[in-house]
Amino acid sequence: MKRILKWFMTVCILTVLMSSTVFAAGWTTGQGNNNGRWWYDLGNGQYYGTSEAPVEWQWLDGNGDGVAECYAFDREGWMYADTTTPDGYMVNSDGAWTVNGAVQTMAVAAGYAGTRVPMLETDSDETKILIAYFSKTGTTEEAAREIQETAGGDLFEITVADQYPSSYQSTVDRARRELDQNARPELSSRVENMEDYDVILLGYPIWWHTAPMAVNTFLESYDLTGKTILPFCTSGGSGIEESMPDIQRLGQSRGASVGSGLTANSLNREEITQWLTQNGIS
Ligand SMILES: Cc1cc2nc3c(=O)[nH]c(=O)nc-3n(C[C@H](O)[C@H](O)[C@H](O)COP(=O)(O)O)c2cc1C
Repeated sequence: MKRILKWFMTVCILTVLMSSTVFAAGWTTGQGNNNGRWWYDLGNGQYYGTSEAPVEWQWLDGNGDGVAECYAFDREGWMYADTTTPDGYMVNSDGAWTVNGAVQTMAVAAGYAGTRVPMLETDSDETKILIAYFSKTGTTEEAAREIQETAGGDLFEITVADQYPSSYQSTVDRARRELDQNARPELSSRVENMEDYDVILLGYPIWWHTAPMAVNTFLESYDLTGKTILPFCTSGGSGIEESMPDIQRLGQSRGASVGSGLTANSLNREEITQWLTQNGIS
């Protein structure tokens, strides 16, 4: 009887161990022809990369040091490496996103394994879109209006209680001080029905290589649980990617998923449509 019990216990333990290998998650290398390529196993039969978009981006902290790098996955789930991704970003031979050769990082909880942006399956008639933008001299506002022509949705201007000076240099100086102090300028506008929206297209000019601090105030003013944020920017040359880590961190801290961003310095309808489609908004 004792022997049968021991055998039964051994079978149970082996079953648990074997099933746990089936659910092993994390970075995995390809086999055979795909030797040397990488994919990210989510451990539940799913993986990063989706047939619905040419790129899925994820911040991942593979070595558990509390610093995530950003990786791109193709439609079949393979990580892009040593190339320019179809949406125009550079990734190095380890697959990490770089800007001017520098690996981009984000502080995260140790072992952070990414958050999947839910692909919105409803069409834009059912998906409520808010186009919230901050604009000092009107360029971002113009981009916001162009985006609205394609995406639909409601326009909302983020405004500050203490307006920025008309002089360019004084604005530059104040913006630098606000950035250095991690300030949260008080806002003079508020979205009263934020709970009605599923998607926020969030527009801003690049200031000092990131979003103006008023955008931080905006994000921190709402419960954004379950919403998707798609950032867009205008600039004198900087790309949206410079601001993405800040928007990712703040958006995620309010419960939102942050999709891919759009540098909107010169826009056409195809680009806007592609950006929306990539993020599951048809
Ligand atoms: C305070 C300040 C900082 C700026 N910093 C940058 C920058 O780091 N990189 C860049 O390409 N352009 C920078 N610019 C230029 C703006 O991003 C650009 O002119 C933008 O299109 C202005 O948008 P708006 O008209 O909606 O305010 C800066 C402009 C200002 C006023």
